[in-house]
Amino acid sequence: MATTTHPTVLIGEDELSARIHALAREIRQDIPAGQIHLICVLKGAFLFLGDLIREMEGHVTIDFMACSSYGSGTSSSGEVRLSKDLDTGIEGRDVIVVEDIVDTGLTLHYLQEILLARGPRSLRTACLLSKPSRRKIDVKVDYIGFTIEDRFVVGYGLDYAEQYRNLPYIGVLE
Ligand code: IMP
Ligand code: MG
Repeated sequence: MATTTHPTVLIGEDELSARIHALAREIRQDIPAGQIHLICVLKGAFLFLGDLIREMEGHVTIDFMACSSYGSGTSSSGEVRLSKDLDTGIEGRDVIVVEDIVDTGLTLHYLQEILLARGPRSLRTACLLSKPSRRKIDVKVDYIGFTIEDRFVVGYGLDYAEQYRNLPYIGVLE
């Protein structure tokens, strides 16, 4: 069912694009030569990936994986399930995991473990958003777009019960 509530803007479009531009430069500076392999964690990170790659110079390849730790609500089940694996191997590649948000850290920790076991040359993680106060596990995040307080956010790919992914900004439901 469609919802009519309009979330309040927390991070607007201009702020998002300026920060993503800076993140793309930072990532390219850390891997100055060669191909960067970006792994988008579906579904929430799809817009972040799209904007990030358009700001990146040089050779870039992409792949997708999907996992879920949330049902349709706003509280984590604590269980992570891989629902779509990568199409290609990552052995010997410089990999960046592109994720929408790190909350408890359980999802990212799980993903990093399975990806590291596949022998990439390097594995880094870029998260558009981080809620450090919610962390249950100490997970390494190399690039963070914005650090936010413990509020449930939607928009720019992030959903509440599959709604709001289409908003061009990050908003808060009130
Ligand atoms: P974690 O495993 O608790 O770190 O949760 C990570 C996943 O939960 C993210 O990839 C999101 O899909 C989802 N999530 C966590 N916080 C939010 C939020 O505020 N809005 C929307 N999704 C969220
Ligand atoms: Mg996610």
